[in-house]
Amino acid sequence: MESPYMFLLVALILVSSNIHRVQANRVQAQKGFISLDCGLSPNEHSPYTEPVTGLKFSSDSSFIQSGKIDRIDPKLESGYPKSKTTLRYFPDGIRNCYSLSVHQGTNYLIRVTSNYGNYDGLNIPPRFDLYIGPNYWVTIDLAKRVNSDKWEEIIHFPKSNSLDVCLLKTGTSTPIISSLELRPLPDNTYTTESSSLKSILRFDLTESTKVIRYPNDIFDRIWDTHFEPQWTQISTVLEVNISNRYSVPKDVLMTAAIPANANAPFSFTKNLEFPNDKLYMYFHFAEVQALQANQIRAFTIFWNRKTIFRPLSPMYLKDYTVFTYTPSSCEVGKCLLEIKRTQTSTLPPLLSAIEFFAAINFTESETNEDDVIAMKNIKATYGLSRISWQGDPCVPRQFLWDGLGCTDTNVSTPPRITSLNLSSSGLTGSIAPGIQNLTNLQNLDLSNNNLTGKVPEFLANMKSLLVIDLRNNKLDGSIPNPLRDRSNTGLQLFVDGNGMCLSSSCVPDKKFPVMIVALASSALLVVAVVLILFFMYIKKKRSSLGLPPMRVKSTSISGQSIETQRRRFTYSEVVEMTKNFQKTLGEEGFGIMYHGYLNGSEQVAVKFLSQSSSQGYKHFKAELQYVELLLRVHHVNLVSLVGYCDEGDHLALIYECMSNGDLKDHLSGKHGQSVLKWSTRLRIAVDAALGLEYLHYGCRPLIVHRDVKSTNILLDDQFMAKIADFGLSRSFLLGEESQASTVVAGTLGYLDPEYYSTCRLSETSDVYSFGILLLEIITNQPVIDHAREKAHITEWVAFVLKEGDISRIVDPNLHGEYNSRSVSRALQLAMICANPSSEKRPNMSQVITELKESITENSMKCIDKMDSNSSLELSSSFDTKVVPSAR
Ligand SMILES: *[C@@H]1O[C@H](CO)[C@@H](O)[C@H](O)[C@H]1NC(C)=O
Ligand SMILES: *[C@@H]1O[C@H](CO)[C@@H](O)[C@H](O)[C@H]1NC(C)=O
Ligand SMILES: *[C@@H]1O[C@H](CO)[C@@H](O)[C@H](O)[C@H]1NC(C)=O
Ligand SMILES: *[C@@H]1O[C@H](CO)[C@@H](O)[C@H](O)[C@H]1NC(C)=O
Ligand SMILES: *[C@@H]1O[C@H](CO)[C@@H](O)[C@H](O)[C@H]1NC(C)=O
Ligand SMILES: *[C@@H]1O[C@H](CO)[C@@H](O)[C@H](O)[C@H]1NC(C)=O
Repeated sequence: MESPYMFLLVALILVSSNIHRVQANRVQAQKGFISLDCGLSPNEHSPYTEPVTGLKFSSDSSFIQSGKIDRIDPKLESGYPKSKTTLRYFPDGIRNCYSLSVHQGTNYLIRVTSNYGNYDGLNIPPRFDLYIGPNYWVTIDLAKRVNSDKWEEIIHFPKSNSLDVCLLKTGTSTPIISSLELRPLPDNTYTTESSSLKSILRFDLTESTKVIRYPNDIFDRIWDTHFEPQWTQISTVLEVNISNRYSVPKDVLMTAAIPANANAPFSFTKNLEFPNDKLYMYFHFAEVQALQANQIRAFTIFWNRKTIFRPLSPMYLKDYTVFTYTPSSCEVGKCLLEIKRTQTSTLPPLLSAIEFFAAINFTESETNEDDVIAMKNIKATYGLSRISWQGDPCVPRQFLWDGLGCTDTNVSTPPRITSLNLSSSGLTGSIAPGIQNLTNLQNLDLSNNNLTGKVPEFLANMKSLLVIDLRNNKLDGSIPNPLRDRSNTGLQLFVDGNGMCLSSSCVPDKKFPVMIVALASSALLVVAVVLILFFMYIKKKRSSLGLPPMRVKSTSISGQSIETQRRRFTYSEVVEMTKNFQKTLGEEGFGIMYHGYLNGSEQVAVKFLSQSSSQGYKHFKAELQYVELLLRVHHVNLVSLVGYCDEGDHLALIYECMSNGDLKDHLSGKHGQSVLKWSTRLRIAVDAALGLEYLHYGCRPLIVHRDVKSTNILLDDQFMAKIADFGLSRSFLLGEESQASTVVAGTLGYLDPEYYSTCRLSETSDVYSFGILLLEIITNQPVIDHAREKAHITEWVAFVLKEGDISRIVDPNLHGEYNSRSVSRALQLAMICANPSSEKRPNMSQVITELKESITENSMKCIDKMDSNSSLELSSSFDTKVVPSAR
């Protein structure tokens, strides 16, 4: 059966008289070829011409910065061409990459040869991986190679003008490479819709053992020879006329294989085990016998007993190529290639050469090309040679360049660089202009270098920048005005420790106070200055609101001992810290909390992201770029992030340990704790409010928590409250304007109805959640309880208040031990915070003032039973209908 729909495609390469092209190719010999003899010392006759092939090899030293060079065992050298006698090996770093200039839009044949040759005398052939850019290509296991100099080959279409070929250490052995060859292929050859083609085999079907490559093959394909016993060879001495664009060498086409038994099908039996691979097959023919008028050679190709091509009939001494246009698969053990003569054919089928490829989808997007060019430019400007600064800057994620942060997008979107940290990198010269081409940069840290010259104005034009740290350099001049303006509107600019003019007198036309935060290197001073500015700000705000000045706690410097230390931990350090995850503190959100010790003494809580929670994993990954920022957020009422671990699949956040657990447990008396007194509850509320106020006003960019709730309020041994889980996993940072987020995050019941309906996030959403939290503190009622008259706590409180039964509202566990005016004040505040309209809610500074008033009332020591007739003036605009109902 030869039903037409089974035909994948016949690519008939029609003969055209084009002998001139072949000649032209000869003239442009080796055009675009890259032939690197890896490990060849650049002083040792580079480039040189290899005698057999005439290929011009050069040293690889200018294409890679890492690795060491060596030669194979001298006893083995005579068995190999010169290019395979030297090698480069990579004892340092995980990923080492060659960076090559290519032409975007050209398909390349890329060949890597790794000839072990017992160069290290250990006789243990290594095993490692090859990557093209960020994408896995193949694993090389030299112990499994019959011919130790066998190569790996791929046909790949570069997506930009640069191409990285990377060797990855995957175990204990050291990756090696002997030669790296790139051959541009003519347009429209070996192309597929979306895949690259990994070579599986390329056979010249001949009895000869002569391997043909360049110069006979102008594209330098290497044609291994293969011949099976059930075949017979036919050949010609006349030249085959080569005219199709595949330019298969004449010598390959001058011989062909036919079945020895002229009536049997031609069958190909070798190496047809490619489970799971999507195969692309190329068949090359030329008729080598001059046929008589009554002779016909016509045949059909079958793959697993299905026809894949219409009957073919190659012409005398003309090259002819067909290939499968869509990939074929090959079930295990069922790969069968047969060529059968048609009924009219008088001669057996013939085949000159075949090529098989496996399709590989390179799905991981390379980093945005402009960002890559800018990074290479910066790298060259400063002469940086960091071991990790090879290959793609952002992907794969585990090989992110040191000091870089990138957006974490899905595989089909190119990542962008969002932070660049070149602190303490020994930089000299001026601030590299190449930085301005990192157009998505948010964080720039060039502190502690020897940079000279002026602060360039281009920094002011980089719209996405949020933080610039230029401390401790040798910059001079003044800050450009546009940059000053930016720093007045949210950009954080740190310039202390330079020889530059900082006072506002440098810019006489400026009316606003200069808000450049001059920070000294000591963390203590940093905290002090931030505090002063922060309190000045609060004070100003407070007086403008006509609120009384407030007494505030000083910001903690408890994290300082770890501040100066490394914050990124390896997985093995985390294992050690937690004593192999011995003690669980609880399971929550995206991961499991473990108890641990930092430096053997400091207690920490380690939140380990479980891999099963891929959602959490993604969130965490996406927000890791902010981790450095969050590590610097310190406030006595915020649970400090002490460090993190991001190694392969292992992700962990390390927090300071809070010995008394969360507020919810204490309210519910879950662990048999004593009931929290009203005064303690008020203090906890103030602590939480102070933490939130700091996130909203003390941080730039401001941080919206998004998930304020009683389980996120943790208590230390003194019952001081700290807010947990800000910044990571659920929250995110806002710039100057609030942003529309596509996903509403938070916990049902605490969720701001306005945010819920508009997806527009601002700090007022936290105020709403805080109101709910305060109601919980007062009532000890579940936030949502369908067994009550009203399910949602705000509706329920409003409902009970209307009934006038106020004693029903307050937590019965308090047994009436509270000051009713204090409770009433707190209750009013809670209801105003939880107002459905964000405009009517107070800000956190006002909340703190009100809570303090409530504390003052309470300290008046007139504990009495709540008078159920005391009138509570609740905001009459409170509309219980707008509260989102439980889903
Ligand atoms: C190759 O084919 C072309 C066109 O068919 C013909 O003009 C030319 O003479 C042929 N060359 C040889 C060497 O046969
Ligand atoms: C490659 O991707 C294409 C489309 O994106 C898909 O049809 C094909 O099956 C994939 N091939 C492999 C080998 O995964
Ligand atoms: C990847 O992200 C882009 C933009 O964010 C989106 O348009 C696209 O649908 C996403 N693709 C997948 C496979 O998620
Ligand atoms: C920035 O990119 C533009 C366009 O891509 C380029 O012309 C310019 O030279 C680059 N500037 C620097 C300083 O690298
Ligand atoms: C700056 O240069 C001086 C002298 O070259 C050197 O001693 C010092 O360590 C450098 N400082 C930094 C921060 O690189
Ligand atoms: C930059 O890296 C240094 C250590 O190399 C670190 O101390 C500093 O906090 C980092 N800066 C930022 C903004 O993350």
